[in-house]
Amino acid sequence: MDVLSSLLCPLLVLLSCLPPCLSDMLCPKRCTCQNLLPSYTVLCAKTGLLFVPPNIDRQTAELRLMDNFITTLRHQDFANMTSLIHLTLSRNTISQIRPYTFADLQDLHALHLDANRLTVLDDSHFQGLVNLRHLILANNQLHSISEGAFQVQSHSAGGPAPPLPPTILRAADCKNKWCSV
Ligand SMILES: *[C@@H]1O[C@H](CO)[C@@H](O)[C@H](O)[C@H]1NC(C)=O
Repeated sequence: MDVLSSLLCPLLVLLSCLPPCLSDMLCPKRCTCQNLLPSYTVLCAKTGLLFVPPNIDRQTAELRLMDNFITTLRHQDFANMTSLIHLTLSRNTISQIRPYTFADLQDLHALHLDANRLTVLDDSHFQGLVNLRHLILANNQLHSISEGAFQVQSHSAGGPAPPLPPTILRAADCKNKWCSV
């Protein structure tokens, strides 16, 4: 009996664990992941998320997290996601972006942050986004945008700031258009 259970248990654990454990590692719970090589897409829209799932594949090219309840973005949420091109965080409850949250996203083209609760943008928030072309900030409660908020520099190289893409300049105008203070 003891011999049998000592043989069976590890085997059962292994068998019951293998397929779900593997898929958990590749795709966060409640998310849908599409591996359309070479582009890896992670879709976690409307899944009741309170934070960015920690186990997102670092090779992800497209990450959609809209319509959740995420409140804070931290550097570790997107650390090492150097292949990420599209990041959608629309319609969450984001009120805080920690400094250098996006610092590793050197290939990011589009960042959607519309319909959140952002009030302040400072110099550190968008650092590292050297290839950003679209930054969507509509429907926040922005009342303070620092002078250098869109002077993006490469976090690693510390090189000279690239010329600002037109879409980012328009986002900066939001100070006059949408902000009351
Ligand atoms: C990012 O990469 C560094 C260096 O390879 C590693 O130490 C760190 O654990 C990685 N972090 C994440 C969240 O993958």
